[in-house]
Amino acid sequence: MRIALATAIAAWGRDADLEPLLAACARAGLAAEALAWDDPSVSWSRFDAVLLRSTWDYARRRPEFLAWCEQVARRTRLFNPPATVRWNTDKHYLADLAARGVPIVPTAFIENERDLARISTFDGEFVLKPSVGAGARGAARFAAHQQAEAEAHARRLLEDGYCVMLQPYLAGVDRQGETALIHIHGRYSHAIRKGPLLAPGGTASEALFAPEDIQPRIASEAEHAVAERVLAALPHPALYARVDLLPGPQGPLLLELELVEPSLFFACCEDAADALVAALQAALRAG
Ligand SMILES: Nc1ncnc2c1ncn2[C@@H]1O[C@H](COP(=O)(O)OP(=O)(O)O)[C@@H](O)[C@H]1O
Ligand SMILES: [Mg+2]
Repeated sequence: MRIALATAIAAWGRDADLEPLLAACARAGLAAEALAWDDPSVSWSRFDAVLLRSTWDYARRRPEFLAWCEQVARRTRLFNPPATVRWNTDKHYLADLAARGVPIVPTAFIENERDLARISTFDGEFVLKPSVGAGARGAARFAAHQQAEAEAHARRLLEDGYCVMLQPYLAGVDRQGETALIHIHGRYSHAIRKGPLLAPGGTASEALFAPEDIQPRIASEAEHAVAERVLAALPHPALYARVDLLPGPQGPLLLELELVEPSLFFACCEDAADALVAALQAALRAG
């Protein structure tokens, strides 16, 4: 069987998960290659499956990326499938999950100029970020007295074609960090701790991804319970899923659900790459 691991030209050589995954494919007897989704010379139909891995620049070109996913899925199997990718590349999905009972980071969506007035309702620190985003790009943290800077940031994001998310800054992340729970084929695999990423003062990163402080972590029972609720609320089962949680005042809250191109942090769990390959083989056998 031939497998393509999809990265991006902009991310070439920067995905630490690729080497362990290529090694796991070799152990399982799969011929695997890493290729950039935006390389027009690739013939994706040569592969039995395309596994999305580090297509990290999709946020700047989502329509093109979604069209590519649809096109690939017509020629071979794409994991996760295009309907999942479409739903999961815009964080409006948080509202769907909240409606299904998942505790999420409180979020207001600023869809247009008129909604900018919502920013003035905050009396503590708050975060503005694009609803289509990855790698903390465009995310910024503001103090209550920075209304004018915040509004200017939101306006810029709107002008760039993004919808803007407004959230309280959950300061628990400064002490406890963020927890990501990785699931493969619906089963829990491992968890990591990610250090806080947003400095005070309202400066947003423009890099492809912000440098991260990652450690292995034992997730709490409360974190497992929220992750299970998230997975149970999914419209379609996922081959891989990463559930990112922040500590809230009453317990863990969903920050982000990653079903497209999450780092899976294989360096923190040796077996996880083999588990993903085995799950992929099982999914292909099941047809
Ligand atoms: N409401 C928030 N409170 C505290 N930190 C936040 C909040 N929203 C985002 N962050 C920080 O910004 C980072 C990027 O935000 P996230 O929502 O995960 O978007 P991305 O898709 O860019 O990863 C998070 O890992 C976290 O450190
Ligand atoms: Mg994130």
